[in-house]
Amino acid sequence: MEIDWKQLTAVATTAMEKAYAPYSNFPVGAAALTEDGRIISGCNVENASYGIGLCAECSLVSELFRTGGGKLVAFACVDGKGQPLMPCGRCRQLLFEHSADGMLLQTISGIKTINEVLPDAFGPKDLQK
Ligand code: THU
Repeated sequence: MEIDWKQLTAVATTAMEKAYAPYSNFPVGAAALTEDGRIISGCNVENASYGIGLCAECSLVSELFRTGGGKLVAFACVDGKGQPLMPCGRCRQLLFEHSADGMLLQTISGIKTINEVLPDAFGPKDLQK
């Protein structure tokens, strides 16, 4: 499947504009393509109790399930300037759980696979051992 990274970046940027980030002033937007061709998105939603703020990826995963579930084949994340942003460590784990084999991410150092950004990941298969 050919990935339209420009489109994913544009959708992530539109999502970023809806972020609720009054504490960090660091809005984030995320967008992903699902195996069945949907494009989903999310933005960060912070809280006065700082530690419980939600990353953009959390909001994206909620939309994934709200719109029918499935696996992600491509993912892009942007900062407040619409520039590519690396998902934080926790969110790499979150994305891994819902990634199709070889899911691609747009990163600050080019297109990478989920395995490259989270090597030897702990995941659902480890619970079956
Ligand atoms: N943030 C995300 O939404 N995703 C990431 O992958 C990195 C960090 C948010 C969390 C917080 O609202 C703000 O960026 C500053 O850390």
